[in-house]
Amino acid sequence: MENRPQWGTRTGFVLAAIGSAVGLGNIWRFPAVAYENGGGAFFLPYLFALLTAGIPLLVLEFTLGHKYKGSSPLTFARLNKKFEWLGWWQVAISFVISTYYPIIVAWALSYAWFSLNLSWGKDPGSFLMGEYLKVAPNPGEFIGLVPGVFFPLLLIWGITLGIMFKGVKKGIEAANKFMLPTLVILFLIIVVRALSLDGAAEGLNAFFKPDWKEIASPKVWIAAYGQIFFSLSVGFAIMVTYSSYLPKKTDLTNNAFITGFANSGFELLAGIGVFAALGFMAQQQGVPINEVVKSGIGLAFVVFPQIINEFPAFNQFFGFLFFACLFLAGLTSLISIVETFVAGVQDKFNVSRTKSVMIGGGVSALVSILYATRGGLYLLDAVDNFINSFGIVIAGLVEVVLVAWVAKKLTNLQDHANAISDMRLGGWWKISLSIITPLVLGYMTVQNFITNTKENYEGYPTSFLLYAGWGVAIAAVVAGFVFMSLRWGKDSLNVPDEKEVS
Ligand code: ALA
Repeated sequence: MENRPQWGTRTGFVLAAIGSAVGLGNIWRFPAVAYENGGGAFFLPYLFALLTAGIPLLVLEFTLGHKYKGSSPLTFARLNKKFEWLGWWQVAISFVISTYYPIIVAWALSYAWFSLNLSWGKDPGSFLMGEYLKVAPNPGEFIGLVPGVFFPLLLIWGITLGIMFKGVKKGIEAANKFMLPTLVILFLIIVVRALSLDGAAEGLNAFFKPDWKEIASPKVWIAAYGQIFFSLSVGFAIMVTYSSYLPKKTDLTNNAFITGFANSGFELLAGIGVFAALGFMAQQQGVPINEVVKSGIGLAFVVFPQIINEFPAFNQFFGFLFFACLFLAGLTSLISIVETFVAGVQDKFNVSRTKSVMIGGGVSALVSILYATRGGLYLLDAVDNFINSFGIVIAGLVEVVLVAWVAKKLTNLQDHANAISDMRLGGWWKISLSIITPLVLGYMTVQNFITNTKENYEGYPTSFLLYAGWGVAIAAVVAGFVFMSLRWGKDSLNVPDEKEVS
């Protein structure tokens, strides 16, 4: 029996899985994605995507990690030696995300500080692009480190790697046990306050009003599946790694349902809070809601500071709370993203955890400095778009095809999950993974290719997208094969305790 670390308690594992799922994607991506894709009507494709892809994949990844007891590369290599590259590809995707994700967490930290005296002034848009990020005129210009981003970034890496050094139970589990409940409490305070603002009802009305004709459009379904993947942390090695630390007896299926619904619950809460606040702002400015809705960076770092400026009282306090929430949500997800390659390196090269945290975390931290330059914003935007469309989605597709169709392992994995879970997996699970998910993801991939080859993403120059977009996405697959070609230590591929487990 190898000495694989284990979670201290089931609650600890579930909190860590929810901590990974609930991240920046919930707070800044979901509300705008829902609004732009049919409002209330979006919940139909969203729920469908959750039940046919999100939760089934979560059950699959929990079962894979638990059965094969390994990081993603080790798990896939144990499933079939020829599949190891998929594990590394997913790890490489996480690695790429780990280079830009902490940048946004660093911005959140800076903005929590700025809230204390509302330093973004009356025009948060110009403040963000000019005074704070000092954005270069053109993409691809990486000159000039921005100290206001660089120093908080160092701090984020210090905290993250400090937690990682402490290990799974004393580091990751302990951190999540503290950070996730704190996040929920702080976020609830914001939502309750937002709901009591003038104009909140109009905001909610805009958010929930269904535009049923929208759901006939494939783009809406693609948005729903895309949101579910990123938000639930499936398809990029995280959940396989986390579940490899589970004890033999646990309830895999139930854990997946709890994680999936908790994540969507938080997403809904974020939608309510954000739109109540947007309703307030629209009313203050006397404009319709659609003029104030933004997603991503614009929502968190431009629109929210504007809302905070207009708050009737305690502006600094609520500003601080909001950015503290972004910081906490981001940090618990970042930890899980970094754990994928820390565990991968440790399993393959048989090094200590300390060494693999230093190597993996160190390299990612070094690369992340690129985004702390004046060209960082464009790079982040391009890398995020391409690694989502041509990383997570395709890796998720390859995962279901290899497991369901090539290895034909679904029945075997279903038996494994059913043997230890209260809730039994039935036909729904197999049909979702072997038919619905591959069809939707296949369609999504084709559409993503068409969109991104027809015109340059955000109109960025081709030369820039060739390395910051396509190049990064292709490099992640290549990395998969390169790492697969390296040798495993003796006996590494034997599944420990296999007979007892399944
Ligand atoms: N699941 C994480 C998020 O939503 C990565 O941000």
